Amino acid sequence: MTRNLVWAKPNIDSYQKNILSGHSSFTLWLTGLSGSGKSTLAQELEVKLYDMGVHTVILDGDNLRHGLCRDLDFSEYGRLENIRRVGEVSKLFVDSGIVTLVSLISPYREARDEVRNLFDDESFIEVFVKCGIDTCIKRDPKGLYQKVKKEGLRGFTGIDSPYEEPFNPEIVIDTEISTIEECVVTIIDYLKSHERLN
Ligand code: PPS
Repeated sequence: MTRNLVWAKPNIDSYQKNILSGHSSFTLWLTGLSGSGKSTLAQELEVKLYDMGVHTVILDGDNLRHGLCRDLDFSEYGRLENIRRVGEVSKLFVDSGIVTLVSLISPYREARDEVRNLFDDESFIEVFVKCGIDTCIKRDPKGLYQKVKKEGLRGFTGIDSPYEEPFNPEIVIDTEISTIEECVVTIIDYLKSHERLN
């Protein structure tokens, strides 16, 4: 099928936009169970990066499901389409010179790898926010695990819906053994040592 589409090449490329920003741009893709600490980590990281003069945006699963992804449910299709959309949006931000902090359960390995393929090697950094399901259930910051138990909420990640851990993430953050401050330091150290930050 001919789709009659022609790519419109912008006059200003991402390299020039990075020069204007004063720093490189990349996606930090935080994946992990509900309650593992993805959103908190993204928020704390953003403060740290802001203080360093880095332009950022947070793409948070819960928040995006109020707007861009409001039509999607938590079926396999809904989650795959969610990951695809957030991947495409994160690419748009990175191409605009903005560091993108994604906090999305993104439970499917292959779908995360498809997002990775949108980027060059240095611009997609997968962060596995590691936390055992028992600890997530204990934390239960939104009372959702309780809803699974008491109200029979179905299709919940880590309970009766799969979560596929990354095989080779760039960074593993264990929120059961590290404080949020230590997690932020680990990520900032990674970014500096890989010359993603000045
Ligand atoms: S996904 O799997 O990547 O499409 O999920 P995501 O867009 O990150 O949305 C996860 C947040 O939605 C809430 N929620 C659920 N999570 C998992 N499973 C089910 N069934 C579900 N229903 C609602 C929950 O608040 C998740 O937020 P986090 O921040 O991960 O706890």
